[in-house]
Amino acid sequence: MTRKGIILAGGSGTRLYPITATISKQLLPVYNKPMVYYPLSMLMLAGIREVLIISTPDDLPSFRQLFGDGKALGMSFEYAVQKEPRGLAEAFIIGESFLDGSPSCLVLGDNILYGNTVGSVMKKASDRSEGAIIFGYPVKDPRRFGVVEFDSQWNVLSIEEKPEQPKSMHAVPGVYFYDSQAPTLAKQVRPSQRGELEITSLNQMYLQQKKLMVEVFGRGVAWFDTGTHHSLLQAANFVETIEERQGMMIGCIEEIAYANQWICSDTLLESAKKLGRSTYSDYLKQIAQD
Ligand code: G1P
Repeated sequence: MTRKGIILAGGSGTRLYPITATISKQLLPVYNKPMVYYPLSMLMLAGIREVLIISTPDDLPSFRQLFGDGKALGMSFEYAVQKEPRGLAEAFIIGESFLDGSPSCLVLGDNILYGNTVGSVMKKASDRSEGAIIFGYPVKDPRRFGVVEFDSQWNVLSIEEKPEQPKSMHAVPGVYFYDSQAPTLAKQVRPSQRGELEITSLNQMYLQQKKLMVEVFGRGVAWFDTGTHHSLLQAANFVETIEERQGMMIGCIEEIAYANQWICSDTLLESAKKLGRSTYSDYLKQIAQD
């Protein structure tokens, strides 16, 4: 069965700044495009065309306005509400009928992964039919994340959520591939101390079944969890540096749709026209002509 994607752009995590009005952080720009474009582009690089966006009741209409039914990208989008930030694993309970027995890939709306191996690694993970695939990424302070420990043969030994004493330096980025069992297993997850259905608990269930695999990203790959003002700025600076130097965009969803042959140059030009005068629109026009 074809793999489907879920983007969780919920209201959990630290607030970026203290205001009471709701502004979805996943729609804030990371340099020159909305944050959510980056995780969406990861799904697209994995070849996933059917996507469910899950967000808060306040923010969901903005996502719907942004992506519509997905036709402009040659994709199909559906939308669902997560009423309270009850954890990442809840995405599979909310998304069960959308998935309808398909394998899935969950990406978090504030995660960015970039590097020239990322696309092929995502594609390879997507092509596997059984079990779960997570990623490991070395960080200076793993205590803020899910942490995966593995042996010299890349067999996963343990996975823990925000451990005081991490067993490895490898944090688990917010991109997860699962077989069709994910919704059934997610319903068995019990809330953690912070009251959330942890994705790490779901991963531990796959580990118990000996079906949890890890792919490790090494040097030369950038991973940002842009959920803090510090990391948001770091990510924006990173994107600006690469894009200015190479003249190629990171996370340009229309470009990926075109490269995947999901849309033709006319559709690309239509999108450019709708976007009005902007460097983003100029970039699309340039791609349509190349
Ligand atoms: C969540 C997950 C954690 C993962 C991280 C990646 O953390 O629980 O395992 O490493 O996303 O961004 P949270 O954002 O809920 O603190």
